[in-house]
Amino acid sequence: MENNNTILSVKDLQVEFTVRDRKLKAIRNISMDLREGRVLALVGESGSGKSVFTKTFTGMLDDNGEITNGEIIFEGQDLTKFKTDKDWLGVRGKKIATVFQDPMTSLNPVRTIGYQISEVIIKHQEKSKAEAKKIAIELMKRVGIPNPEKRYDEYPHMYSGGMRQRIVIAIALACRPRILICDEPTTALDVTIQAQIIQLIKDLSVEYGFTTIYITHDLGVVAKVADDVAVMYAGQIVEYGTSEEIFYDPRHPYTWGLLSSLPQLEEEDGELHAIKGTPPSLFEEIKGDAFALRSDYAMKIDFELEPPMFKVSDTHYAKTWLLHENAPKVEKPAILNNLHEKMQRITSKGGTYGSTK
Ligand SMILES: Nc1ncnc2c1ncn2[C@@H]1O[C@H](COP(=O)(O)OP(=O)(O)OP(=O)(O)O)[C@@H](O)[C@H]1O
Ligand SMILES: [Mg+2]
Repeated sequence: MENNNTILSVKDLQVEFTVRDRKLKAIRNISMDLREGRVLALVGESGSGKSVFTKTFTGMLDDNGEITNGEIIFEGQDLTKFKTDKDWLGVRGKKIATVFQDPMTSLNPVRTIGYQISEVIIKHQEKSKAEAKKIAIELMKRVGIPNPEKRYDEYPHMYSGGMRQRIVIAIALACRPRILICDEPTTALDVTIQAQIIQLIKDLSVEYGFTTIYITHDLGVVAKVADDVAVMYAGQIVEYGTSEEIFYDPRHPYTWGLLSSLPQLEEEDGELHAIKGTPPSLFEEIKGDAFALRSDYAMKIDFELEPPMFKVSDTHYAKTWLLHENAPKVEKPAILNNLHEKMQRITSKGGTYGSTK
């Protein structure tokens, strides 16, 4: 996955957690180039490794986790070599910032909102207190806080959940990051607020020119925000492509499964298209294709040998033996035909945020 406008490049990354003397392999050899200035959506079932993967970009793995192989190249440095907080000083929360699901974990309950934004501006942009306050109020305005001059002196508990998440975004932007990681930033919010926050992040990414990694379970959200999509399964990226390629020309049976379980498609024939079974245990060595046991399309080789990433186009790759030249030709499930039309219907009607009935 070579690209000349790569901002961050991951090679053969492996992460293991130690749990009571046992090893859990959470990330199993991921290689990926993040394309600058774009919005990458990371999708995949719970436990597939989305959070762990992106936490390696800011050195935020839990204490029992370690990178056991690979490299993460950012601005000519290998981030896997960073160990201490001092090593991370110029990168974490500065060049690479994260917005988490629960804004309260990122905000200090005993400091005013204004103080918390200004503090970051003073630190990262070397401004005076008065200048920082001006910039902070501007930022609050920009992320959609009404009456920011007044709300500057309020405490986090006086804000609603959606407003708090806007503040967390403002704080992240105050350091002028090059990469913004959003880990399920709207899951805890109600649907109309979700739509607003997603649109806000998208608009800001264009305005400020940062690269976004957007983690979500919700493919409706992906269709709205993503330029590129990485599909994760059992600690690997199994398909990577532009949003168009993933929605309209998906190649991995797991991606087919994810797309088929779009709630909007379920409604059409009243049937549920959830992917059957569960992912394999990451405590065990996985042989062959990790999705084989759950796949209707598995071949003998899938149980024996791990597939490589096959190239579909310069921007599209998938890790399935179905793309081998000797594989039988199989079609994606019929329900995914005309997805373009169906997706347009979804997004024009407000997608997962509004009623599709
Ligand atoms: N501190 C830890 N100790 C042991 N295992 C962990 C730890 N943190 C994460 N894991 C395991 O690593 C795997 C990947 O977890 P991760 O949190 O990245 O999943 P995810 O894709 O973000 O899921 P979700 O959608 O639920 O947030 C899971 O099997 C998880 O149980
Ligand atoms: Mg997660």
